[in-house]
Amino acid sequence: MEYRGYDSAGIGYVLQKKLEVIKACGKLHNLREQCAKEAQALTVSTALGHTRWATHGAPCVKNAHPHVSQDGRLALVHNGIIENFLELKAELLTQGYSFQSDTDSEVLVNLISQALKEEQDLVKALQKALQRAHGAYAICVLDQETPNVLYACKQQAPLICGLGIGENFIASDIPAFLNYTREVLFLEDHELLRLTPHSYELLKLDDLTPIKRDTKEIQWSMQAAQKGGYRHFMLKEIFEQPKVITDCLAGRLGANYRVLLPELDAQAIPKHLHIVACGTSYHAGLWAAHLFQSIAKVPTTVEIASEFRYKEELLLDAHCDQLLVISQSGETADTLAALDMANAIKIPTIGLCNVLGSSIARSAKAVIYTQAGPEISVASTKAMTSQMLLLTCMALYYAQRKECLKASVAQEFFDKLQALPQILEAQLPSMQERAKQLARKFAKSQSFFYLGRGFCFPLALEGALKLKELSYIHAEGYPAGEMKHGPIALIDPTFPTFVLAPIDQLLYPKIKSNLVEIQARQGQVIALTNPGSDLEHCERWEIPAFAGPLAAFLLLPCLQLFSYEVADYLGCDVDQPRNLAKSVTVE
Ligand code: M6R
Repeated sequence: MEYRGYDSAGIGYVLQKKLEVIKACGKLHNLREQCAKEAQALTVSTALGHTRWATHGAPCVKNAHPHVSQDGRLALVHNGIIENFLELKAELLTQGYSFQSDTDSEVLVNLISQALKEEQDLVKALQKALQRAHGAYAICVLDQETPNVLYACKQQAPLICGLGIGENFIASDIPAFLNYTREVLFLEDHELLRLTPHSYELLKLDDLTPIKRDTKEIQWSMQAAQKGGYRHFMLKEIFEQPKVITDCLAGRLGANYRVLLPELDAQAIPKHLHIVACGTSYHAGLWAAHLFQSIAKVPTTVEIASEFRYKEELLLDAHCDQLLVISQSGETADTLAALDMANAIKIPTIGLCNVLGSSIARSAKAVIYTQAGPEISVASTKAMTSQMLLLTCMALYYAQRKECLKASVAQEFFDKLQALPQILEAQLPSMQERAKQLARKFAKSQSFFYLGRGFCFPLALEGALKLKELSYIHAEGYPAGEMKHGPIALIDPTFPTFVLAPIDQLLYPKIKSNLVEIQARQGQVIALTNPGSDLEHCERWEIPAFAGPLAAFLLLPCLQLFSYEVADYLGCDVDQPRNLAKSVTVE
């Protein structure tokens, strides 16, 4: 689980009837070394582990999980935020509890411990304590008195259970136990799981009545969740993109050039589509808005989930508007909240997710799965490609249902989409070579502009995001036409610009003028363009021309590879950049 948080880690287990905890600051290998020092030849049947991404309290050993109750009986790991923890802590302090850490999680374990003194039974104690905890949590608890049982509960944070043979698992994400089992039980909010190596019991938290639920079989392979010979997950995931395109298209391109999206057949065509997402998924949405408008003639707005969810009024109409949320993980807290708001006012909702059974996938009225396989690197790459592909299919699908797409145009799209995997596969090695050369030249820059127009503007935003999150170089994505309204003042010989300049009839001459304006201020330029380009006095990076917005499927990997190579050259931790977590399951 390290990709979900890696500023500290810890494990807890019961040995000779005594609860033990080992913790270390920093990455997981520090914990491994600490374990080797503190616990040689450890054999226990049940244990609890956690990799942390700090929310309450700095990343340090005392704040690492598991947290232990004051009486030493319970150990707890927790993802999420207990919003009323200060209030609960004040109450526990008056009752003589003291705290070793700055976390809300330590408050929670003591709240459960306090309830256990009154209830005697841990299931009842969990029920009682969790009724008082407000906010988001996924927790797992180990009790010294029942050393082979784990208790787990969730509220607006992911938690799943893997069922193996003679061994069972609780985790926040599938790769944690993919090596051991593919049979998964998805927990819902307000449910309590009691798990032993051989059995499980799922209960409603409200009244502790048993719940029956079918398990799901996960199709991801363990190989897909490993590095497979690449130096980093990110590089592997970039190189997987041709296969991802093939997988995403499977079953989508039907006879007579009709797109198949049975997931949407029961829904009306939106009169107005609202796309809501965060980060890279938001950029995929911005890019797709061009297609929804130009191909399907569906007016489309795209908003950042954390902004959307706090609008004073939504002004949506269930007869006209539909909400499409895009999320690789399906667990991003703000995106999930936006979805819940739309569901509450009965707006038709669609989730575009990569993770099967994720919270967003379960909450959306219709769900479309991207087929990107597990994305482990914190920086999202292949997920964006898969999202853009399914969004293209959606735009074509709506256009066909509205009968506003000529058969010849549909055929052209089909031909191009089907040709993509092979073209990209052939290009990736030379793209990486060019990215490496340019990275060496520009890696020491302090700042970067990324410019694009039209469908290239969202790609410029994505290029800038990738560079800053991986290499900590300040980067800004801009619509190229905006430069002269202020930002061009920053240009000097030390401030380079990455220009997205595919040759198309309308926008190429415009972006060419923007490039010349930058050069007139001695700005250095990398121009990502096509053979035949007449852009001069810049680092020209030529890739094959590709039709219209679909060119994004070739431009995007160049941006990803450039950021990857810069970060690698600078010695940055590519797969686990500082301060970031893969899934942002807290606000
Ligand atoms: O899982 P999601 O697609 O909802 O995640 C959204 C963002 O947190 C994510 O795309 C983030 O921006 C990536 N780390 C960027 O590489």
